[in-house]
Amino acid sequence: MTKDAEKRSLSSELGFIHKFIPASTRPDQVTLLLLHGTGGNEQDLIPLGRELYPRAAILSPRGKVLESGMPRFFRRLAEGVFDLEDLKFRTNELADFVRKASKVYKFDLRYLISIGYSNGANIASSLLLIHPEVISSAVLFRAMVPFIPEKVPNLSAKNIFIGAGQYDPIVPPKQTETLFGLFEKAGANVVLNIQENSGHELGYDEISVVKDWLSNLPKNSP
Ligand code: MLT
Repeated sequence: MTKDAEKRSLSSELGFIHKFIPASTRPDQVTLLLLHGTGGNEQDLIPLGRELYPRAAILSPRGKVLESGMPRFFRRLAEGVFDLEDLKFRTNELADFVRKASKVYKFDLRYLISIGYSNGANIASSLLLIHPEVISSAVLFRAMVPFIPEKVPNLSAKNIFIGAGQYDPIVPPKQTETLFGLFEKAGANVVLNIQENSGHELGYDEISVVKDWLSNLPKNSP
């Protein structure tokens, strides 16, 4: 089988077009799950992942929902109004993909850090609420509340960084506060960082704050 045919068959076996890049040095156990924003793809966040955690392996899927041709991780009815049924279905599907990928590529889910941006951060929050077992830590850039769970899960072993932009036209401050409160109530070790001069876009200052946060995570729960 050619390399391209091999990649196509792995993508169909795992259910998502994706990219996997093994860790550059061993025995580093950390794998980053990169989740792009609306209109992005599996290549988009790779430079960011490399910058944030150079030694980690990378798993980067492409969202399967198309909105006017733009990939997303779940359907929305309008900006900021989510199709909750689809969100839950897609969250289960993504959790399945991550579990299967950990077997195929032989990485440990206890060391999986999700880095999500915008729509990707929203599905990462949904994963934390529905399938906390597949993520150990999460960086959520420009995230909204995906839904309010009936029963708040126990996230006391999770480390979560929420990165917001003070002038974000898509994510109102109330959303950020509610999301922070939700993870706090779930017992997570959660940090909220509000960038004073940012909107929905990311800036270099924020990236260096996240690098510090990542490098200070407890060694047994990255
Ligand atoms: C979403 O739909 O997940 C949020 O509105 C962010 C976005 O993708 O624009």
